[in-house]
Amino acid sequence: MGDIQEELMALLSPEDAEAEFPSKPSALRRCEPKRLPLADAAQACSVGQLLAAQDQGEALAVGRLDSGKLVVLADLCPHDGGLLSDGFIEGEAIVCARHGWEFDGRTGQCLSRAGISVPCHAQKPPHI
Ligand code: FES
Repeated sequence: MGDIQEELMALLSPEDAEAEFPSKPSALRRCEPKRLPLADAAQACSVGQLLAAQDQGEALAVGRLDSGKLVVLADLCPHDGGLLSDGFIEGEAIVCARHGWEFDGRTGQCLSRAGISVPCHAQKPPHI
């Protein structure tokens, strides 16, 4: 696959990428981000930034909240499977870029829907 095609796929939603490139494997259509080792992501993450990381095969979103607190959450939005690492930080919340659900970065609790949460390693990030 050429670089231009890869760049275009990265800009499309998974649904649009599938419609545009139906012959590509689903893993490519999902446009998986490049993931840093957890310790590297934690060290590189600046205030207001979210990074895609991995630890022992687990996809993680590493973020530094506006307070400066480092948080580590599963990189999977419970609404519709969006990557939280594609989202953004707003105060102490992580906002999913796909549909805007908000999660407390310190606890993983969804602020948009009661009773929903994302696994959160905020209290004790693994292997950092
Ligand atoms: S996939 Fe995250 S808000 Fe919809």
